[in-house]
Amino acid sequence: MFGKRADGAAQATPPKFAPIEPAKPAAAPVAPPPAAAAPAASATAAPAGTLDPARVAKAVRAPTQSAPPPGPVNDGRTEEYYRTKASIYNALIETIDLGQLAALDQRTARDEIRDIVNEIIAIKQVIVSVAEQEQLLNDIVNDVLGYGPLEPLLARDDIADIMVNGANAVFIEVGGKVTKTPIRFRDNQQLMNICQRIVSQVGRRVDESSPICDARLPDGSRVNVIVPPLALDGPTLTIRKFKKDKLRMKDLVGFGAISEPAGKVLGIIGAARCNVLISGGTGSGKTTLLNCLTGYIAPDERVITCEDAAELQLQQPHVVRLETRPPNLEGQGAVHMRDLVKNCLRMRPERIIVGEVRGPEAFDLLQAMNTGHDGSMGTLHANSPREGLSRMESMITMGGFSLPTKTIREMIVGSIDVVIQAARLRDGSRKITHITEVLGLEGDVIVTQDLIVFEMDGEDANGKIIGKHRSTGIARPKFWDRARYYGLEKELAEALDAADV
Ligand SMILES: Nc1ncnc2c1ncn2[C@@H]1O[C@H](COP(=O)(O)OP(=O)(O)OP(=O)(O)O)[C@@H](O)[C@H]1O
Ligand SMILES: [Mg+2]
Repeated sequence: MFGKRADGAAQATPPKFAPIEPAKPAAAPVAPPPAAAAPAASATAAPAGTLDPARVAKAVRAPTQSAPPPGPVNDGRTEEYYRTKASIYNALIETIDLGQLAALDQRTARDEIRDIVNEIIAIKQVIVSVAEQEQLLNDIVNDVLGYGPLEPLLARDDIADIMVNGANAVFIEVGGKVTKTPIRFRDNQQLMNICQRIVSQVGRRVDESSPICDARLPDGSRVNVIVPPLALDGPTLTIRKFKKDKLRMKDLVGFGAISEPAGKVLGIIGAARCNVLISGGTGSGKTTLLNCLTGYIAPDERVITCEDAAELQLQQPHVVRLETRPPNLEGQGAVHMRDLVKNCLRMRPERIIVGEVRGPEAFDLLQAMNTGHDGSMGTLHANSPREGLSRMESMITMGGFSLPTKTIREMIVGSIDVVIQAARLRDGSRKITHITEVLGLEGDVIVTQDLIVFEMDGEDANGKIIGKHRSTGIARPKFWDRARYYGLEKELAEALDAADV
């Protein structure tokens, strides 16, 4: 069938499954082909039939026509290593049938490639240590089957975001700090092919005619792709890495994102079924906080979540997860957040959780909140609780609901109990900066009251921000009665007392 394990029949059909840079002549890499991407340079070689020893021998003896100059070194890989990898990769591509490779499942394909690479190493008499051989095998398999230079980044769990701005600029965010990595792609075509591979997994396509696409990696990571002509410096890929072990409230307390008593107050807000809006800038930790709050939902409640890309991981047994759908290639079949939230109301939910409110669904969420779905939650982009509430208002106005401003504000104060503000501070740390209650309307103005705020005291010698979560001294928040109804008033009083330092 394929490679060593094949029966020998050569295939004339073009490969369905291309390596990362299938159709590009190896000749003219735009940029010096670097790092892990380098050896992919000659992936254009026509796929051949099966692996017979003569073929392998011929391939390995052939000069490595397009072995690219090695790129910047990273992860301890030397230039010599990249040269070796390039020549083995080229020999491999001449040997295997990519079409048949596509028909194999991932595991078998990996095994096949490993077998052939081992054989090439033996025939070429490449002198490598066992560890280097293993590294070679992994890198080559990643180049053929995976996401090439992105693979080592995807494998790291400490990375929050991977941002690729064209072939030569790959940034990562670790611990709140964004840094440039030495990783590069051979050229924009290789990067484009990886983008294509990612989005094709969710049945989509990116090219000049549809240059924007949202997708998801098999591990759940959220991906956005925008390509030329809209992105001027080459395909631009943004990946929000999926964290297998989601942060819990105790982790947030551990990181100092929230103080222990303030964390308890948040827990009570979740358990007492307050309607909550989580506001914050991009990447400030809104979804993480939302996920933490859902940890306080009782196991017997029916919860429905609506998201653009499923990120939440609720632990309760009775959860229905819904996801929006982008339009298909003909521009049809889109299902928007508003459709989902409206449909939710017919599904007998006890709580509705909206991953991100960004449009007219704001209206439906508010309606849900004040029509018996207490404890509903959502996140939105805003820089302060007050701004969050006015964003809510403008989303409703812009959604074409011709309601007077006062009516919209009445709806807002009648629905939202608490706004929690998340922020990423300039030292990269993420903090909950406000727990704010919505009290009511005074004239036309929404009145709010901060319960707990993060106060910055300064910064230490390393530029790390020093500060404290302080209670504003409110002993009886508006949701006190609600907490009492759920038997949580004693805990609430204690937590607020402890926060009052
Ligand atoms: N308090 C925290 N301390 C450390 N890391 C955190 C904290 N909160 C969130 N993170 C990490 O920060 C990254 C971004 O978090 P999250 O997805 O919750 O942000 P977001 O505000 O929802 O972003 P977006 O606006 O893109 O939806 C994640 O990798 C998450 O694990
Ligand atoms: Mg989010």
